[in-house]
Amino acid sequence: MFVSDHAKVNAAGNLEFSGVDTVALAQKYGTPLYVTSLDGVKASCAEFTAALDKHYGGNGMILYASKANCNKAICKTVSSCGFGLDVVSGGELYTALQAGVDPARICFHGNNKTETELRLAIENDVGRIFADSLAELDDIERIAGELGKKAKVLVRANPGVEASTHEYIMTGQVDSKFGLSIDKGDALAGVLKALASDNIELAGIDCHIGSQIFEVLPFVDEAEMLMNFLFSIRELTGVTLGELNVGGGFGVRYVPSDDPLSADRIIGAVAARVKRFCAENDFPEPFLMFEPGRAIVANNGITLYTVGCVKEIADVRNYVSIDGGMFDNPRYALYGARYTACVANKASQPADYRAAIAGKCCESGDLIGKEITIQRPERGDILAVFTTGAYNYSMASNYNRNPRPAMVVIDDGEDRIAVRRETYADLVSFDEE
Ligand SMILES: Cc1ncc(COP(=O)(O)O)c(C=O)c1O
Repeated sequence: MFVSDHAKVNAAGNLEFSGVDTVALAQKYGTPLYVTSLDGVKASCAEFTAALDKHYGGNGMILYASKANCNKAICKTVSSCGFGLDVVSGGELYTALQAGVDPARICFHGNNKTETELRLAIENDVGRIFADSLAELDDIERIAGELGKKAKVLVRANPGVEASTHEYIMTGQVDSKFGLSIDKGDALAGVLKALASDNIELAGIDCHIGSQIFEVLPFVDEAEMLMNFLFSIRELTGVTLGELNVGGGFGVRYVPSDDPLSADRIIGAVAARVKRFCAENDFPEPFLMFEPGRAIVANNGITLYTVGCVKEIADVRNYVSIDGGMFDNPRYALYGARYTACVANKASQPADYRAAIAGKCCESGDLIGKEITIQRPERGDILAVFTTGAYNYSMASNYNRNPRPAMVVIDDGEDRIAVRRETYADLVSFDEE
């Protein structure tokens, strides 16, 4: 009935999420409210770890792509599950360090890392830097030299798959701001530059082909292409690079028709192809990394809102307005993301009311969805939107000077605040007279 595994209707007829009554959560903490099930996050992490163990003897690491949802509680939780952490900015890196994540398990991504960010990473001995350009390799070489360090680096390769084969990879190929093109020889130039550096230890290559991917073939093809690249590096230079990061992008269920792959299926298929390649080409099996973001958090999060005005425009559309919107969830406004929702205090009633769920910002495009079916709503009801655990809190803003919502986490069945609600005083606290 619900897209989330953690949602059900309880005896009071309310929506329960991860064992907790959502109406009670809304009363206790106010709305809008992000709710993240850390119990669910732990279960998702365990699935990835089990798959890596089963299919690849654990010879690798799962990195949580923290851009999906980054705060201290989530960083702590995933690292307590044995995950490494992919960070993509100084702010994410700082959050991870503040959360006590072992720097050796932090990997630093990003297509335009600043001098300050690279310094912060190298000073703190992050485990790996994923270098995105030749200029960045020069920066790493220089900064590591100045700091008397040797930086462990993977070169981000752009595999350049034909669009006709996999259109979702199209933006990740030659015409992309990310990585260095294998086809154009730029990735090899990066590898040679890194190998020639005294202050860089080149460990391998990494890649990320896209997001919300529901098929296994693109990942398997990607792995094959990257293995071919590693092989050609060995042929050319005699150097065998020992690490391969195939990135993230594993799809999740936002609407019932979405049919996500399990971690077991993705990792099983990629690991099998890598192993076969290695056996056929007498190449050592690389340390293998996967980088799920959304697959760890999206379905482990919901957002609770209070319903405000309900407008029924005869023969046109119903608009159900909520006390949140694009400032806490910009994904519909950004790219027409789809969601399902439920009136949490009427969860046992039939869902037969079709409406646009509208935010409170001054933009017509400020919607959670244009056609969402929910229980008949009234002012004051609590609306739960599902699958908001990824790229909601992390993409939130203060548009229209709205304070960002609090985040409550459910940990061992208990709820607590992980991120406090912003106040109006917070909003003006950066302003000078
Ligand atoms: C390099 C890299 N790795 C991993 C991810 C995570 O993607 P997803 O959340 O779709 O798994 C992203 C997302 O943009 C990314 O850019």
